[in-house]
Amino acid sequence: MNGIVLIGFMGAGKTTIGSLLAKETGMGQIDFDDLITAEIGMSIQAFFAEHGEPAFREIETRILAETLTRPEIISTGGGIVLKEENRQLLKNMPQVVYLKTDPTELITRLQADTKNVRPLVLSKTPAEILAVYQPRIPFYEESASLVVDTTGKTPEEIVAEILAKVGE
Ligand code: S3P
Repeated sequence: MNGIVLIGFMGAGKTTIGSLLAKETGMGQIDFDDLITAEIGMSIQAFFAEHGEPAFREIETRILAETLTRPEIISTGGGIVLKEENRQLLKNMPQVVYLKTDPTELITRLQADTKNVRPLVLSKTPAEILAVYQPRIPFYEESASLVVDTTGKTPEEIVAEILAKVGE
């Protein structure tokens, strides 16, 4: 089986769904934020503050190119679709799943998540978070080979839907 790449906004469940998919399929899981954090040796928030977002995006693109063809479950970071170069890489992959989530649910989840500090969400109002999300929607859609609406579904239901569809 080919690997499955998960894309979607922050809070869409890429890490949670990725680990369940890995368990179900027996494949390994690659989580971008974990890989990047291990490489930079500090939190993403600290890296943004010290080196800026463009430096983060450079690392992200390199990791995408290095990992994309691995037959594993790949949970990307929410901003992976921002660069045209990344979108081209994703479009060449057979199984790229966009976890599409209702914006209100996303904002509720992001505001409830105190463990994962995200620099692009920190201290932002719901309207400001929406302003980050909305321009990305067409990028997620054009980069994906499959769109799964996760709104109101349990992680188990989402995983079952993905596995049924990627196997088609
Ligand atoms: C980002 C998403 C984060 C992380 C960084 C930037 C984004 O990953 O890569 O904070 O621009 O959407 P998650 O989507 O895993 O939260």
